[in-house]
Amino acid sequence: MRNFTYCVPTEIVFGKDTEVSCGREVKKHGGTKALIVYGGGSARRSGLLERIEKSLEEEGIAYAEFGGVKPNPGLAFAEEGVEKGIREKVDFIMGVGGGSAIDTAKAIAHGVANPGIPLWDIWMKKVPLTRTTKVGVVLTIPAAGSETSDSAVLTNEVIGKKSGLGTELNRPAFAIMNPELTFTLPKYQIGCGIADIMMHTLERYFIPDQENRMTDEIAEGLLRTVIDSGRKALQNPADYDAMSELMWCGSLSHNNLTGLGRAKDFSVHKLGHALSARFDCVHGATLTAVWGSWAEYVWTNDVNRFVHYAKQVWGIEGSGEETAREGIEKTVSYFKSIGMPVSLGE
Ligand code: NZQ
Ligand code: ZN
Repeated sequence: MRNFTYCVPTEIVFGKDTEVSCGREVKKHGGTKALIVYGGGSARRSGLLERIEKSLEEEGIAYAEFGGVKPNPGLAFAEEGVEKGIREKVDFIMGVGGGSAIDTAKAIAHGVANPGIPLWDIWMKKVPLTRTTKVGVVLTIPAAGSETSDSAVLTNEVIGKKSGLGTELNRPAFAIMNPELTFTLPKYQIGCGIADIMMHTLERYFIPDQENRMTDEIAEGLLRTVIDSGRKALQNPADYDAMSELMWCGSLSHNNLTGLGRAKDFSVHKLGHALSARFDCVHGATLTAVWGSWAEYVWTNDVNRFVHYAKQVWGIEGSGEETAREGIEKTVSYFKSIGMPVSLGE
């Protein structure tokens, strides 16, 4: 096991109707005026934004709003949000939605705390990030894991580059996770989310150093849970239990728990980000489009690891190359079954 530090300070508020505690949470974490950052309108249509506004009002928290974040969020839009946040003198940022809204909220939080410093300089680590504004989250899609992750991803449209910023300052102060909020998701987005959750663990699982049994057991249990719950959620997007499992797995998959004590690879994510930057494809779909090819390319480097994966995650009996390949095939078929592309052509 490699040395590691593990600290996920995000307070999780999980379950039905939990969004009504939003105002209380902001207050508890010291906010007096919040900027609510959200996407293209799903949170408005579902009535969620209204409930959040009401809960802030009940606690005497002032707020301003910044809606319109697009999937694969852009740098220029986040910079507009920074300007608004500074103009409105907010001291708290609320991200409402999925990875795109939450990552934009994180970016705005950094910009508001560091006025005058271009966001991209922070992103490229030209300027070290030493302070930020507190962020709270109301999650509406189990996928990116941004609600507890140390990462945020933006696309710089001018140079055509999509890039993540990893820093402990990216961990939100709290994350409200009500699985019922996901019931309005289109099936394609559910599929993309399942793929992304699996990939955050797979990218930590297939690496050279593996002397770490507990981390393996957590990763394999998480993958089995996501595979099974994902099927159920796609059959019935209003299945509370299945969505609960997906939501919790989404957070655990990307807050570093499933990779403790070992290196991180993330080659597939890097390929996916290049595809999204060029073609604006949905993140989860870029990952499944390349994973099978990636696996075909690397599996002979460590056949035993792929055999172990096939047994533990897919319950395939046997040993040797055939079993390793069967594990890869099962994974690719699963991606197909949840409506994801498994080649660049698709
Ligand atoms: O914008 P709205 O109208 O809200 O619609 C969104 C969007 O079109 C919709 N949606 C979300 N919740 C919904 C809903 N529609 C109906 N009902 C709901 N309850 O879903 C669409 C996708 O939303 P988005 O936020 O883009 O999804 P996701 O959570 O998959 O986030 C993707 C972004 O996160 C980044 C990705 O690269 C991508 O930019 N990632 C962030 C990570 C991180 N910060 O740790 C790690 C990931 O690897 C990933 O890179
Ligand atoms: Zn991802």
